[in-house]
Amino acid sequence: MHRTSGLTPPRIRPPLDLSHQCDLSHEPKPPTRPEHDTYNRRPDLESASATPMNDLNAEWRNRSLKAVWHPCTQMKLHGTAEQPRHALIPIVRAQGVWLEDAQGQKFLDGISSWWVNLFGHNHPHIRQALVDQLDRLDHVMLAGFTHPPVVELSERLAALTGLGHAFYGSDGASATEIALKMSAHFWRNAGRAEKCKFLGLQGGYHGETVGALAVTDIPLFRTAYAPLLRLGATVPSPDARRAEGSITPAMVAEEAAAQLEAWLDEHHPCTAAIILEPMVQCASGMVMYHPLYLQRVRDLCTRFEVHLVLDEIAVGFGRTGTMFAHQQAGIHPDFICLSKGLTGGTLPLSAVLTTDGIYEAFYDDDVARGFLHSHSYTGNPLACRAALATLDLFEQTGILEKNVQTSKRLWTQFAPLSNHPRAHHARKLGMIFAWDIETSLPDFAKRYAAQALARGVILRPIGHTVYAMPPYVISDSEGKFLAEAAFAALEATLAQESHAQTSRVGTIDGV
Ligand SMILES: Cc1ncc(COP(=O)(O)O)c(C=O)c1O
Repeated sequence: MHRTSGLTPPRIRPPLDLSHQCDLSHEPKPPTRPEHDTYNRRPDLESASATPMNDLNAEWRNRSLKAVWHPCTQMKLHGTAEQPRHALIPIVRAQGVWLEDAQGQKFLDGISSWWVNLFGHNHPHIRQALVDQLDRLDHVMLAGFTHPPVVELSERLAALTGLGHAFYGSDGASATEIALKMSAHFWRNAGRAEKCKFLGLQGGYHGETVGALAVTDIPLFRTAYAPLLRLGATVPSPDARRAEGSITPAMVAEEAAAQLEAWLDEHHPCTAAIILEPMVQCASGMVMYHPLYLQRVRDLCTRFEVHLVLDEIAVGFGRTGTMFAHQQAGIHPDFICLSKGLTGGTLPLSAVLTTDGIYEAFYDDDVARGFLHSHSYTGNPLACRAALATLDLFEQTGILEKNVQTSKRLWTQFAPLSNHPRAHHARKLGMIFAWDIETSLPDFAKRYAAQALARGVILRPIGHTVYAMPPYVISDSEGKFLAEAAFAALEATLAQESHAQTSRVGTIDGV
């Protein structure tokens, strides 16, 4: 995931406005440099011999290129320490919506660090909870043991979702694995082992481990690994962009539901579950759809005895305007998968919650009828404390109500981008904003990301879709900075169309 251009971004002094931070007694402070700061001291010179003496970014970058294999990245994009290409950016600290590199340059985190951050980086309330927890208990295995943070978090998540029996993993993909395994095992325990197949939406994304990839319909991600996968089936997405002329998003939703009905009619005897991202299919380009679709899916799942697994990993925790996206349809899933914003973007944690009925089908004298799944760090106390602190912030700050205004304000600030003649399907839901760009540049995403970065903003298009998903605490002036950079990056990228030489080397989202 990283950079595209060899440009050295200019030093930008963005408006570091922290007044938006939540109304808690501990106001965050701008980034400070501790005297003995490991990350701002010069790294080991021996391993950074090819870099100029005063370039801390280059030193960390070169060491990273030698030692780290970056995720979802064609590493040739960055080259080698000896022959660097597009620059990796070493981030050494963060505050609010800003990330800061080793040379002190700041970047506005326009996509919340892969959609995880909600209340800004380095939030004092979350940090304080973590420090407090470190003084008490760092970790204990969750088999045979329990601890206050995991109990409290499970209770609070149950109260929020209407589901219970929280089962923990570490990342989003592990939540997908847990939900799918639980669903199939439920049917096996119910004497219907033939119900073991899964269904998803076209363009759906549920993670990249082998089980999750089998229900992820993004060709780039799964083609290379297809021989390893037990591929799930897919049905058409209710993508609201298909609503044109007299066709409404609700009509598109009805049509997609009818296609699902036809599929289930034939295949329900061997189908355990359908998994989908409610309201927005994020990874396939912020594909938004009408909540009617979720209502129809709920009814069909009940009628055909197929579990409904809602993957709220990206859209949960207020991202679409409601605490959970499916609440906009007034439905209840059989399983919900949570991660990303669960810890406010601080620590890896995921959770799957389900119904009493499903839980009871596992409750037995026979160990083989129990749910057979574990991770060493399941329910890690520190991650649970970060999640509890994040839930505190939802309660104490009224952020969901504030986001209504923030979303409107940002949409106004984005108006020049929405009105750009080459931007189509301008759309937003809650704190997700997206535009499809008409361009002849096959490597548009890479070029756009570089232009945004050069303007002090992290925006990484998915294909030809530019999107913004900033932390909820973005201020008025920061929003202006983001919107202006997003627009200017578009103009600068499109200006390259006539003389572009394209390159296929890059990363997946944006670069
Ligand atoms: C909807 C959805 N599900 C699952 C995942 C996978 O989460 P992770 O990357 O933490 O494994 C993602 C990640 O972007 C996602 O957007």
